[in-house]
Amino acid sequence: GAVPSSKRTQDRSNEDLAYDDAAAAGFESGFSNTPDTDPDLPGNRVWGAGILARAQESELGNDLIRDHTLETAEQVEAAVDTALTASTAWSQLSGAERAKVMDRVGVKLANHRADLLEVMASECGKTIDQGDPEVSEAIDFAHYYGKLARELDEVQGAEYQPSKLIVVTPPWNFPVAIPTGGVLSALASGSSVIIKPAKQAARSGSVMVQAVWEALDEAGISRDVLQLVQLSERELGTQLVSHPAVDRLILTGGYETAELFRSFRKDLPLLAETSGKNAIIVTESADLDLAAKDVAYSAFAHAGQKCSAASLVILVGEVATSRRFRNQLVDAVGSMQVGYPWEPATQMGPIIGPAEGKLKRGLTQLNDGERWIFEPQQLDESGKLWSPGVRVGVRPGSEYHLTEYFGPILGVMTADTLEEAVEYVNATDYGLTSGLHSLEVEELEYWLEHVEAGNLYINRGITGAIVERQAFGGWKKSAVGATTKAGGPNYLVGLGEWRDVPLEG
Ligand code: SER
Repeated sequence: GAVPSSKRTQDRSNEDLAYDDAAAAGFESGFSNTPDTDPDLPGNRVWGAGILARAQESELGNDLIRDHTLETAEQVEAAVDTALTASTAWSQLSGAERAKVMDRVGVKLANHRADLLEVMASECGKTIDQGDPEVSEAIDFAHYYGKLARELDEVQGAEYQPSKLIVVTPPWNFPVAIPTGGVLSALASGSSVIIKPAKQAARSGSVMVQAVWEALDEAGISRDVLQLVQLSERELGTQLVSHPAVDRLILTGGYETAELFRSFRKDLPLLAETSGKNAIIVTESADLDLAAKDVAYSAFAHAGQKCSAASLVILVGEVATSRRFRNQLVDAVGSMQVGYPWEPATQMGPIIGPAEGKLKRGLTQLNDGERWIFEPQQLDESGKLWSPGVRVGVRPGSEYHLTEYFGPILGVMTADTLEEAVEYVNATDYGLTSGLHSLEVEELEYWLEHVEAGNLYINRGITGAIVERQAFGGWKKSAVGATTKAGGPNYLVGLGEWRDVPLEG
């Protein structure tokens, strides 16, 4: 029969006490920036408590949304005009000069680390262990795209022509890092930017923009090069993304959204990071304890709401028939605490986009041959807290095998051989992240040669690409128009054009 789904902690009296003390202390700065000098301050002693105490009631970013919501077509036109005007002076700076501004942005983002963690927890249910590396990634983008801007100056025989206007439409699931990557790549390349943060992450995106503006102010650059907008009507969004003055559009979102944007304006250069249906293969040679832990983390951290998350695990040979891996997975998933980030025991946060449509189907319906070993349960009235779901018996070619659900659901498939497992991975339309747990070199080599995905992970979880060290970008339908990877060496070049200049002498 079904194993009971994980429950929220019943007895949290000790943690609650620490948490309440932290809230009562009401101190201003968060743990990340605060040296642990006063052992009597609970926010310094309890990891993250200060930030989370503030997150529950946080108002950060609301004023920015209020001030930057456009309501008419004329206002959209004005934002475009302002950005275009500002692009002239900005594009005339050298790459090295823009890089200096990027370095300032990195410092500002670091200074706002606690604010960013607070607003991400408040708005997007990010636990601090998820949010903290995300802020680091944003800071990395600043310094790395600055470095690439310097390199643009050094190319001989050609001159880089930036775009005038790039529109950035990021998703809500990485509400700081992905918007920062889009905005700073475009700015570093010498273009003006209009950013429209996702509605569900509007405050997080706005606080990030505020940090960039502060850096621009300090550098004496007009804030007009970076326009922050929210739009009161859907039609205004269509107007913006199909506007003829937009040179490029950086989108991170579902494949369907990329197709929709393309249908608005066929000739629009779109750089889109889109969907994934990512799998981890576990072979007989694997360290099964490690594999179970990595699979559970990859599937359920941030409630599976990452384009990089694992939604399939493919067990090869005896791993499928022995109970060992299965028991490990049951332990890992069954002990997972679901809750809001400010509840101190929380490991898996809420669902942000409502559980409806495709996701609701994935959480509630099985295909032929499947059964739950953890049936997802809605845990509270809000509909946002769901326990993790694990289904076994997923058949090749089934709806579950081929569909991205973007939530806390994992499907287990079995294969007789590694070759067969790789075929199942490659059968999906997508190719974003992929993992292998194996300790056999021949298996690793086979997999590396045959698996079709942009970001590969060996004997670890499959989320968390790192700027410069492992650029992020998918194959197949996981990318639309994006030929270079975010956080990788050619990204800025792809945002502009080159003009030949005669070499001297
Ligand atoms: N960059 C994120 C990751 O690698 C996904 O957007 O997990």
